[in-house]
Amino acid sequence: MDEKKVVLLEGDGIGPEVTKAVVHIFEQAKAGIEWLPAEAGAQAVESQGSPLPDSTVDTIREVGLALKGPITTGIAKGFRSVNVQIRQALDLFANVRPIRSLPEVKTRYDNVDLIIIRENTEGLYSGLEHEITPGVVTSIKVSTEKACTRIGEFAFSLAQKQGRRKVTGVHKANIMKLSDGLALDCYRAAAAKHPEIEYDERIIDAMAMSLVLDPCEFDVLVMENLYGDIISDLCAGLIGGLGLAPSANIGADCAVFEAVHGSAPDIAGQGVANPTALLLSAVEMLHHIGNSECADRITSALHKTLASEKTRTRDLGGKLSTMDFAKELVARLDG
Ligand code: NAI
Repeated sequence: MDEKKVVLLEGDGIGPEVTKAVVHIFEQAKAGIEWLPAEAGAQAVESQGSPLPDSTVDTIREVGLALKGPITTGIAKGFRSVNVQIRQALDLFANVRPIRSLPEVKTRYDNVDLIIIRENTEGLYSGLEHEITPGVVTSIKVSTEKACTRIGEFAFSLAQKQGRRKVTGVHKANIMKLSDGLALDCYRAAAAKHPEIEYDERIIDAMAMSLVLDPCEFDVLVMENLYGDIISDLCAGLIGGLGLAPSANIGADCAVFEAVHGSAPDIAGQGVANPTALLLSAVEMLHHIGNSECADRITSALHKTLASEKTRTRDLGGKLSTMDFAKELVARLDG
């Protein structure tokens, strides 16, 4: 069988550690992937003088698939987020973030199963910020009918394909009457085309509280960029932390898979990061390309590995290093 080409971006901070672990697991599982390394982030600045060289974007566009480690973005200074630039440059308009309880990881709730659909190309991530006069700045939130319609329809069609019962539109249209109002109009239009799927709406602040009190009430959530960013981390906390939450950036012709988490500078270089979030993102990629047999084999080994505290990483109460966790998982692969 021909190997499937996938661009590999190691990323910054814990990125190289978790990508190495995932590549090891995929190789041992004979996942049939040919990795094509490309540069972005600190590594690219050093070797090519740019955090996101055009050649990297072109390669992903050509190949159509990438697995990406997290990339650091300076706070209140430095270059624009490379993560946001990749999503915008490749028009990866839907960020799909499944949030599922892992039976082996005990948390307050044991049956969370929801999917966050985050609009990935506009909102307050437009990059349009101006200093009007010293001490006065504006950040422009962009909301277009095209992008809101596209994400609304994506949410309903994903709900339908995956046999989901409900889509919730999350917004703040009581305050941002025009931008979030437009988004709601578009979600409602998509809902009208899918009468078989229930549709309701929540204001983002009340949504945050409801998720903490009873996440099992929710199914598919659709929302604009910033809300999706924040709610994703909240939901990752509900299932055991950022070490466990995967995501996929989906466009019409390209898909880039990455963990929800960032480069975790506080633990970078220590070899203690949990590679599960990136591994589950890569597993989503296998489903995406139709290799569900291998995806299921890796997922089953992951469950077996997480079952004992002795074979977990530090964030889940274990002592294993990132790579030792990967090796324990490989030892539990069937076939
Ligand atoms: P973060 O997600 O990197 O870390 C938050 C906390 O979660 C830290 O305590 C970290 O140690 C922990 N954590 C994250 N991933 C983990 C893992 N796999 N295993 C164990 N613990 C883990 O968020 P933070 O610190 O706010 O951001 C750091 C940098 O990452 C920033 O420059 C930010 O812009 C960037 N970032 C990049 C993203 C991307 O590449 N898609 C997404 C989010 C943040």
